[in-house]
Amino acid sequence: MITIDVRSAAGDYPVLIGSGVLDDISELSARIVGRPPRSVVTDAVVARLHAHRVAAALDVDPIVLAGGESNKRWSAVETSCRRWLADGLDRSSIVLALGGGIVTDTVGFAAATYLRGIAWIAAPTTLLGMVDAAVGGKTGVNLPEGKNLVGAFWPPALVVADTDTLATLPPRELRAGLAEVVKAAWISDHSLLDLVPVGADIGYDSLTKSGWVEMVARSIRIKSEIVADDEREAGLRKSLNLGHTLGHALEAATDYRRFLHGEAVAWGLEAAALLGRRHGVLSAHGEQELRSAAQRLGPRPAIDDLDPERVCRFIATDKKRDAQGVAWVLPTDDGVVLDQRVETSEAIEVMRELQRG
Ligand code: GLY
Repeated sequence: MITIDVRSAAGDYPVLIGSGVLDDISELSARIVGRPPRSVVTDAVVARLHAHRVAAALDVDPIVLAGGESNKRWSAVETSCRRWLADGLDRSSIVLALGGGIVTDTVGFAAATYLRGIAWIAAPTTLLGMVDAAVGGKTGVNLPEGKNLVGAFWPPALVVADTDTLATLPPRELRAGLAEVVKAAWISDHSLLDLVPVGADIGYDSLTKSGWVEMVARSIRIKSEIVADDEREAGLRKSLNLGHTLGHALEAATDYRRFLHGEAVAWGLEAAALLGRRHGVLSAHGEQELRSAAQRLGPRPAIDDLDPERVCRFIATDKKRDAQGVAWVLPTDDGVVLDQRVETSEAIEVMRELQRG
């Protein structure tokens, strides 16, 4: 098991990464957080695959939310909080989010607001949940107007990332999670790109057990160093938004139903590569390298039927806007550059370029 300690103003917390660590959830939470979770919240798919052993170990009846990005909404927060109330959870109670990024974001946000805030543990069961959502304390839900527009910084007390759960992921989910690994690698460790499996038939067997542990741990280390320096996203943390400006707009423009988050990020990475080149911060070689790293993750839902003007209108409601407009993160040859102003007309042109292939 690898342990990465994440520094946070709300209290440092460990991220435990390893094969089979979820089997020890009761002992780990008692030892590290001082008490076991009183509630497990998950979604229907994860409930079938993993919740029984976790809930049995903790002797709780899991709360099962509807899955999918379109269900990352207020109603799921209300469902969780009302069940916690009915089950008598108080301010000293801890809850466990068991699932992918959607469960993690939603339950973390419910924990942030229940009784004005209770402690929570993240047990991510998807690659995307492990390398991104569970670390750093961003929680929240979507609005029809845009992605993650309501939320709170509310770090978990513990993260338990059992890489064996990746064996149950459909290849599409795995490929989507790899887009966040590519993002992290591009920001600060290009050699991590060499670990990323490629091709349309990427699956759990594409890496060894220890390969998955290494890739997840290296990605988490990158993120943990960034959020330790800038937890509230005043500067450096913005780098983690690489690929997310167009990515979030694509998700919102398709009612959160067409793309997995990582698939939209993969399109967003390609858009950022084109913009980086246009803005003179990325070489032709860098553009090619980042675009092919995204493309090598295999097929993703198409964008050619989408109206670029409509998609780019969602960029205007992005959280990253300020009085000067929307600040993009653009790739350079050895990392990223923050706060790049991109006109809407230019974003539209780039999306048209992606549509042409
Ligand atoms: N997912 C981006 C961040 O945590 O800042």
